[in-house]
Amino acid sequence: MRIGVLTGGGDCPGLNAVLRAVVRTAAHAEDPIDVIGIEDGFDGLVTGKGMKRLTTKDVQGILSQGGTILGTSNRGNPFNYPVKNDDGTVSYEDKSSDCMAQMAAHNLDGLVVVGGDGTLKIAHELTHLGARVVGVPKTIDNDLHATAYTFGFDSAVNVAVEALDRLKTTAESHDRMMIMEVMGRYAGWIALHVGFAGGANAVLIPEIPYNIQSIKAHLLDRLSRGPKYHLVVVAEGAMPVGGSYSFNAGIKESAGADRRLGGAADALAHELSDMNIETRTLVLGHLQRGGTPTYRDRLLGSSFGSHAVELVIKNQWDRMVCLQGNSLESVPLVDAVGTPRLVSLDSDVMRFARNIGICLGD
Ligand code: F6P
Repeated sequence: MRIGVLTGGGDCPGLNAVLRAVVRTAAHAEDPIDVIGIEDGFDGLVTGKGMKRLTTKDVQGILSQGGTILGTSNRGNPFNYPVKNDDGTVSYEDKSSDCMAQMAAHNLDGLVVVGGDGTLKIAHELTHLGARVVGVPKTIDNDLHATAYTFGFDSAVNVAVEALDRLKTTAESHDRMMIMEVMGRYAGWIALHVGFAGGANAVLIPEIPYNIQSIKAHLLDRLSRGPKYHLVVVAEGAMPVGGSYSFNAGIKESAGADRRLGGAADALAHELSDMNIETRTLVLGHLQRGGTPTYRDRLLGSSFGSHAVELVIKNQWDRMVCLQGNSLESVPLVDAVGTPRLVSLDSDVMRFARNIGICLGD
């Protein structure tokens, strides 16, 4: 048997742990399976460039490395593939049959696709053309249905908690309000976990449009009790009641529907500018996606990768591996993609955050 493996969408700590586990599980199988690494996400499958066999030697020493040794892309949807015309303009073509042709040319019996919602949706669509696919959920945003956690989330949260600890030093020393913006797209998982674990005084998430007057009242009450500084964590997707998302207009690639969030911290600082406290903002950005994965993300990534190959061996296709409770399971891909998993307002962490006096903006 011979399978291909690709990583699609944004990079994320733990991707290399998945690749290593896929290759090693395949090599150690009773009937060893050849693994072909596909470079740069679906781009590599459309063009066939950079498809090469991965041996256990190729994945030696990558467990602790961030990023992905295969490279990735979040712009090469084969069903709507950007093609440069001679005059420099770009048009979009359906190149999905090229993917099928490459799979046939390389004798691939199936594919392991590691990615977030967009990548896994494409993977599922390929199954309609006859491709045999197993999906592995990846994203720092932790916003995928059907899995309690995605790998990458823990590393991103750890980086952000450390950053908040460092900001606290300046906040305390200078009597300032420090507002830290974290990633997470339209879900508040990163902000909520960072704010709760990092000791923020207010945490603003997309799921609760914030009421600026309640935040001010909360922070003024805090000042009246002694502390002279504030730590605020704001999700990039947070917005005021009746307001709208903040988008980063400076990113050329994010024109149209695929706009990149950014600027929520500055928008909030502007709204709080009459509070009579010196304020600084920090957008943590891609620092959250980089660097070495935490132990949890190595464990989850390695388990997902290994379980994906177990499904391949058992001929269980069109499924996504997932974590349910403490158990590694799988679900039909179609049930796992489409709608982002948002923070549930009555979840335990939300209740505990309120219990300990964190302002959630409502
Ligand atoms: O989905 C992961 C993520 O890092 C989001 O949290 C963020 O909004 C987005 O990707 C940024 O995308 P890019 O790296 O393309 O700017």
